[in-house]
Amino acid sequence: MRHVHLKELFQQDPNRFQTYSMRNEQLLLDFSKQRITPETQSLLKTLADTCQLDTWKSRLLSGDAINTSENRPALHTALRQPQGSELLLDGHNIVDDVQANLAHMSDIVNRIHSGQWRGYSGLPIDTIVNIGVGGSDLGPYMSCRALSDAQLASGKKLNVHFVSSMDGSQIADLLDTLLPTSTLFILSSKSFTTIDTLSNANTAREWLRNASGASDDILNRRHFIGVSANAPKMTEWGIPENSQLNFWDWTGGRYSMWSAIGLPIALRIGMSRFKEMLAGAHAMDEHFRTAPFESNLPTQLGMIGVWNINFLDIHAHAILPYDGRLSHLPAYLEQLEMESDGKSVSRQGKEVDYRTCPIIWGEVGPNAQHAFYQLLHQGTESVMCDFIAPARRYHDTDNADLQQQHTLTLANCLAQSRILALGDSVLEDNESAPVHMRYRGNQPSTTVLMDELTPFSFGQLISLYEHKTFVQSVIWDINPFDQWGVELGKKMATNLLKPLMKETDGADLDGSSKGLLDTIHALQEV
Ligand code: F6P
Repeated sequence: MRHVHLKELFQQDPNRFQTYSMRNEQLLLDFSKQRITPETQSLLKTLADTCQLDTWKSRLLSGDAINTSENRPALHTALRQPQGSELLLDGHNIVDDVQANLAHMSDIVNRIHSGQWRGYSGLPIDTIVNIGVGGSDLGPYMSCRALSDAQLASGKKLNVHFVSSMDGSQIADLLDTLLPTSTLFILSSKSFTTIDTLSNANTAREWLRNASGASDDILNRRHFIGVSANAPKMTEWGIPENSQLNFWDWTGGRYSMWSAIGLPIALRIGMSRFKEMLAGAHAMDEHFRTAPFESNLPTQLGMIGVWNINFLDIHAHAILPYDGRLSHLPAYLEQLEMESDGKSVSRQGKEVDYRTCPIIWGEVGPNAQHAFYQLLHQGTESVMCDFIAPARRYHDTDNADLQQQHTLTLANCLAQSRILALGDSVLEDNESAPVHMRYRGNQPSTTVLMDELTPFSFGQLISLYEHKTFVQSVIWDINPFDQWGVELGKKMATNLLKPLMKETDGADLDGSSKGLLDTIHALQEV
């Protein structure tokens, strides 16, 4: 198959779309531009069976402690199970805990939306700043942007901002534009020990102290909410108990936007829309659990990814949304997939001798067309692409200009995946063109077509990618739910603080680090 061109596959079977496209609820996935045949499908099924995909799927969904290095289950699916359902963990129905948590969240959301939650001067809160990083930032940040069209029942819009970067540049710029009297900070951190988040949180509190002259007690009560799996640490920081939203260690950071970490989303779009998003994700969970291999969307997405990576030798994956509201999806998927499956040690503790997670990156498609598509079309790298677009947008407005912009965007989406697959063979006189103007094609892609971008379809989309990531981890025999590869960097940075602050001389450092340290010191003295 490495030598088979997609144009031949389409010549052999003009009905590839009918064969390789599949639908669930509000999503359609078109795999026809992937370099697969019925034989590929059947071999991939054998591979999945050999790796016991169905057993692993049941273990995931039933709450087995499959995150073995941390000895706990990965139960993000429980966060979207409907009220009244059951998922027993150590004999206890955790769906009840989840629902109680949603009720607490709902109460907070109502108090803020209704103007009952007031700042130190008595003014209602109208601005939210989420302080978090990684899984405590990327999911809510992406979702607030993706669902930005959704209006609150009141028609009002809360301003919701996100601060994640350690260096202070985001928070400093943002605070310059905000009013302390009506700004509330959500401190989001599963561990509540992440230095990036705690540094930004301290800067925020100091800003409030300077502006208000109010006591820490008042500021902590009126201007901070904590979301964490570590209640004692929230208390230690000063968050009062009734402003703490908890979640559980069985929710991985990058799988946590469905938990109280999603509070900024609920504040932005309202609790009922937040629940529609959960319902969309749950619909995909059920589809993943019950649909057969051949028509199971996350399974196919995952297995075809494995096919590209391990059999067609493709190690780069571009995420290309054709809708500006999905601009933060690539960054979200970078963490989801690369922090989950970027591993090289098997569940048995052995170095694997095959490739695992590829390099994932992306950008809003039409913008990327003017940036890195050159490489996709004429570079030396094979790249697999996901095109993601809603079929309908602005259809319920009478703004003909925006409707036209949407049509133009879809035309570009279809055009790009067509050329990437078929190259310039779609042109009549392609062979007479000079070589630098030729397009060889054969870059495989999947198109994810959403009916429209709603909280429900968005929930489906994100759950689709979560399960895709899991499917691939099963085939690669790795644990997708830990992230030990990020720990050493944190420790090392702490160690480097001392020489940077000249408390030690750094003589034990390597030559490069020592050289950089000395240069920084010299520059700081200027
Ligand atoms: O350093 C990586 C990481 O642990 C991610 O897995 C996590 O999403 C992020 O940091 C933030 O962690 P926390 O929510 O505990 O602040």
